[in-house]
Amino acid sequence: MIKNPTAKDLHDLINGEEFLSIKDLNAGYGKMEILHDFNLSLEKGRSLCLIGPNGAGKSTVLHSIYGLSSIFKGSISLEEKNVTQLSPSEKLKHGGITYVLQDSSIFPDLTVRENLMMGAYIHENQKEAEIECERIFDKYERLFDRKDHKAKVLSGGERRLLEISRSLMMNPEVMLIDEPSIGLEPRFIDMVFDILSDLQEKEGKTILLVEQNAKKGLEFSDFGYVLVSGKIVMAGTGEELLKNEEVGRLFLGG
Ligand SMILES: Nc1ncnc2c1ncn2[C@@H]1O[C@H](COP(=O)(O)OP(=O)(O)OP(=O)(O)O)[C@@H](O)[C@H]1O
Ligand SMILES: [Mg+2]
Repeated sequence: MIKNPTAKDLHDLINGEEFLSIKDLNAGYGKMEILHDFNLSLEKGRSLCLIGPNGAGKSTVLHSIYGLSSIFKGSISLEEKNVTQLSPSEKLKHGGITYVLQDSSIFPDLTVRENLMMGAYIHENQKEAEIECERIFDKYERLFDRKDHKAKVLSGGERRLLEISRSLMMNPEVMLIDEPSIGLEPRFIDMVFDILSDLQEKEGKTILLVEQNAKKGLEFSDFGYVLVSGKIVMAGTGEELLKNEEVGRLFLGG
C-alpha cells in the first residue's frame, strides 16, 4: 500500500504494460477544477476500483475518461493512443471505451431487446447490432427470457444486468462502471460482481469501477485507489487495501 502515490508509484504498482493511462490530469466542470494532478495506470484485462467519500471526484474520473468533463491539463491514453480530446461517441466507436452510469439509464417503456439495441445506435450496420444482441441473449438467459418485456417490469438486479449488457453492444475493451451495486439487495450485488468477474476473466475486459460498497469493490478488483478531494491518497492491490486498518476504519465500517 502506497500513500500519496506519484505517477511512477502507480505505474510500478501494476508492474506490466500500461493500457489505460492518465497523466497529471486537472479536470472538472465549467471552470471548477475537481481532479488535481490525477494519475492512473491500468493493464489490459485488469480491474481497478476507486473508493472515497461522496463528492471526492470518483465519478468525475470516469466522466473525464469518457469525455464528459472539462479537461484543463494532462492526458488520457489508451494503448498509447492519446484519447484526451475524443468525444463520447468517438470513444465508443474508435476507442472501445464504454460507460455504465451511476444513475439508471434504462428506457422503461422500451422492451429489453429495444434497450439493448439502443446500445448499438452508432453501429453502422444493423446486422452487426443484431448479432451482438443475440450473443448477449445466448450469454444471459435472464434477459433472453424477458426480451419482449418492457424494461420497467424488470427487478433492480435485472435492470443492472440490462445496463451492463447494453454497454457490451459495441464490444468495448474498457468498461467504466459507476456504482454497480447501488440500490441492490445482497443477492443481486453478488450477481453483478459475478458478471463483472466473468467479463474480466473470460472476455479480457479492462474494468474501472467506482464503488460505494468498498468491501465488494475491493474484493473484486485487482487494484484500488482511495480518492479524497480530487487526489489519490492511497493505492494498492485490492487485497492490500482490504487489509489496511485505515481503509477499514474509514470505508469498511470496521
Ligand atoms: N455536471 C457537473 N457540473 C458541476 N459540478 C459537478 C458535476 N458533476 C459533479 N460535480 C461536482 O464535482 C464534485 C465531485 O463529484 P463526483 O460526482 O465526481 O463525486 P463522487 O466521488 O462520484 O461522489 P459520490 O460518491 O457522491 O457519487 C462534487 O462537488 C460535485 O458537486
Ligand atoms: Mg459518483
